[in-house]
Amino acid sequence: MKLSQSKKNIAIFASGGGSNARSIIAHFKDSAIARVALVVSNKPDAGVLNIAAENGIPTAIIQRKSFYETDDLLEVVRTHHIDFIALAGFLWLVPQYLVAAFPKKIVNIHPALLPAYGGKGMYGMHVHTAVKVAGEKESGMTIHYVNDHYDEGDIIFQAKVALSENDTPEDIARKVLTLEHRHFPQVIETLLTDT
Ligand code: GRF
Repeated sequence: MKLSQSKKNIAIFASGGGSNARSIIAHFKDSAIARVALVVSNKPDAGVLNIAAENGIPTAIIQRKSFYETDDLLEVVRTHHIDFIALAGFLWLVPQYLVAAFPKKIVNIHPALLPAYGGKGMYGMHVHTAVKVAGEKESGMTIHYVNDHYDEGDIIFQAKVALSENDTPEDIARKVLTLEHRHFPQVIETLLTDT
């Protein structure tokens, strides 16, 4: 880490409950390296917005039309001096203008061992049900760079967990989510300090 550098500003994009967002916010709460400076969601009632509010973090709600047909969001992220974007349960494909504005600065977390169980439609319980149906002996999580295809950017980090025959898709989801909470904040920190 270059100590002369000021704190980095992270934006979290999330559509859901936000448990990963919570773990990232907690990790960087007293950090000298970075802070979570913005939470972006496409759902006005997403649980992640409450977590942001509890922590005094600004939020932005995006609409599909302006997200894909304008680059207005760039102005929002610039206003908050965002250096790095973490997608944590964000289901919309990231448009090219955003990928181009943040080269190798946007990462996504996926609840399976990519390239298996990835791509369009492979999200949430769809992933864990497919893993169960295939009789997999292990699953895990993947953190990867974001490009303009679902789940196809270069893989940065993976962690595995053993599955037992009796695990339900819900059990698999719990096991994988535990891994996500454990590793995602640390991987973000490493990426921020390595650059
Ligand atoms: C996580 O499993 C993540 O891998 C996936 O969506 C889920 C989000 O959970 N992309 P949460 O909203 O962080 O609780």
